[in-house]
Amino acid sequence: MSIHIKTAEEIEKMRVACRLASELLDYLTPHVLAGVTTKAIDQLAYDYIVNVQHAIPAPLNYAPPGYTPYPASICTSVNSVICHGIPNDKPLKDGDVLNIDVTVIKDGYHGDSSRMFCIGNVPRHVRRLCDITFEAMWHGIAMVRPGARLGDIGHVIQTFAENAGYSVVREFCGHGIGRNFHEEPQVLHYGRPGTGEELRAGMIFTIEPMINAGRREIREMPDGWTIVTKDRSLSAQWEHTVLVTDTGYEVLTQSAGCQAPPDFVAKAHAAA
Ligand code: MF3
Ligand code: CO
Ligand code: CO
Repeated sequence: MSIHIKTAEEIEKMRVACRLASELLDYLTPHVLAGVTTKAIDQLAYDYIVNVQHAIPAPLNYAPPGYTPYPASICTSVNSVICHGIPNDKPLKDGDVLNIDVTVIKDGYHGDSSRMFCIGNVPRHVRRLCDITFEAMWHGIAMVRPGARLGDIGHVIQTFAENAGYSVVREFCGHGIGRNFHEEPQVLHYGRPGTGEELRAGMIFTIEPMINAGRREIREMPDGWTIVTKDRSLSAQWEHTVLVTDTGYEVLTQSAGCQAPPDFVAKAHAAA
């Protein structure tokens, strides 16, 4: 197996699938409120993907080797849940923080993105965790260009998160994506500069750091999917799907409702 370099036609299809994923998050955003259950949000997502986007929710019945089929259309990871939280009947409450991770399949291609949502008034330290994780993802994205190495991406994410006093989850990583939900390469969110696979134009992969307020160790819940922090500290995650272009990168999971990139990204572009 090796890393698939996408053709121009495939890149165009990935642009469409990824835009739909981002637009789905835009659509869900006004519904993510105290009193609403994550199951209700999952139902909204299913209906929108199937009836409006005429696409397929990739998580539904997704069953990698060793896993039972995933029972919902999106992942909703609340507070100390790191990832793969299964939507349930518990209403969101003021002060909760959650990640919504969506993946849609359009015309055979996958678009994968996730964002953090704060419910009502959240303490300042919780907002900081979300903001630092967002910036950490963007530090990784900003490294993407032909000739850079995967280790460069992991290194900047790890350095930024750890300097902020947080820890990086090791067991889950970003991934190549296209016709397959998860394909090569694995994009670790930690590492050493100058190591790992060299990036080439036409590669498409996700960058999706999971950052814990406490220790990095994880625990898997008995449902076989839900991953929580072992110390029950809060965890945050953001995810974009990114194309390596001839000169740098293109973030494919973009739409009107995206949070603007951090200042250092705009400055770097202005300087280029
Ligand atoms: N969307 C997740 C990712 O970013 C994968 C979720 S798999 C599921 O890779 F089955 F839990 F949906
Ligand atoms: Co995802
Ligand atoms: Co992903």
